[in-house]
Amino acid sequence: MNNIEWIPEMSLGVVIIDEEHKRFLHKFSELARAPDLEFSTCFLELLEELEHNFKQEEDLMEKCQFFQIREHRQEHGKLLHALHIVTPNVLRGEFDAARETLSILPKWFVFHLSKMDMQLAIWLKLKEPELNCEHDFYPPKRVSVHHSNLHVSVG
Ligand SMILES: [Fe+2]
Repeated sequence: MNNIEWIPEMSLGVVIIDEEHKRFLHKFSELARAPDLEFSTCFLELLEELEHNFKQEEDLMEKCQFFQIREHRQEHGKLLHALHIVTPNVLRGEFDAARETLSILPKWFVFHLSKMDMQLAIWLKLKEPELNCEHDFYPPKRVSVHHSNLHVSVG
C-alpha cells in the first residue's frame, strides 16, 4: 500500500477543504504503517474520516449550489461503496481485500483533488468569498502533483 503525504502543491486555497484533506492523509498514513493488530481500528477510523470529509464537502456544495454536485457526489459514493464492500472482511480479521482496495486510494485522491475538488474550490471562491481562502485561485493555475509514482497534471 503506497503511502501519500500532504505537500503544499495540494493546497486548493480553501482552508476548510485543505484541513480535511490533511486529516484524511494523516489517517491514511497511519493505516499504511499499521501492523495487522491495529489494521481494523485504523481502517474504521479512515472510513469515518472519509465519510466526514465527504459530508463536509457535500454540505459546502449544497450551500453554494455547485454546478457539479451530482457527479462529485457520485465519485465520493463510489469510493465509500468500495470501502464498505471490504469492511466485513476487515471486521473478520481478513485484510487482503481491504489492502488491495486501499492501494488505489492515493491515485484516486490525487486525481479527485486535481479535478473535482479543485473545481469546487474555484466555485467557492466565486460564490462564498467569506470562506477563508488563502490565495487567489482563479483563473485556474496549472497544478501538477508529483508524489512517488503518482503524477497528475491539470490545467
Ligand atoms: Fe471531493
